[in-house]
Amino acid sequence: MVRIMMPMDANNSGNVFGGTILRLIDEVGSVVALKHARTNVVTASVDRMDFYHPVYIGDMLRLNASINYVHKTSMEVGVRVEAENPLTGEVRHTGTCFLTYVGLDKNRKPTLIPELKLETDEEKRRWAEAKERRKTRLREIGRQEN
Ligand SMILES: CC(C)(COP(=O)(O)OP(=O)(O)OC[C@H]1O[C@@H](n2cnc3c(N)ncnc32)[C@H](O)[C@@H]1OP(=O)(O)O)[C@@H](O)C(=O)NCCC(=O)NCCS
Repeated sequence: MVRIMMPMDANNSGNVFGGTILRLIDEVGSVVALKHARTNVVTASVDRMDFYHPVYIGDMLRLNASINYVHKTSMEVGVRVEAENPLTGEVRHTGTCFLTYVGLDKNRKPTLIPELKLETDEEKRRWAEAKERRKTRLREIGRQEN
């Protein structure tokens, strides 16, 4: 997803507001989760998000999202955020975020998500890393792994 950052996206010091970026992260993440699950999804959690560099009004914000891991009813989506200066083409990696989405059935109960078919080494690496993050995430909120 690519968005030009407009004045309405600014904070009170004139750079892009972090909340604007978080909203776009959840938007692109939910699109990817929805396309994989083909059922309603909700955001169950958003992992820690660090902003490495400011994003400026006029920058093109580029968000790339991928499904990293599917468990039973939940899946992890990773979103990489980059800002591109449209005049120079300079690209800065401004942050990466991992989100967990849960598929819901018609009664809004968690429902099974289709398995992920891993084809490339990159997909296998992402899967293994996401599996570890899931363990940590559930431990931190005191949930038993199933
Ligand atoms: C997400 C939600 C449906 C989970 O409900 P629940 O009663 O905990 O359901 P379950 O115990 O069956 O867990 C369902 C899955 O969610 C995962 N999960 C639940 N809470 C989680 C959390 N905080 N972080 C990561 N995963 C979580 C579980 O691990 C499980 O995954 P699995 O089936 O792949 O093993 C429920 O907490 C909810 O509706 N939250 C509000 C979501 C929402 O409205 N988001 C938008 C912003 S308000």
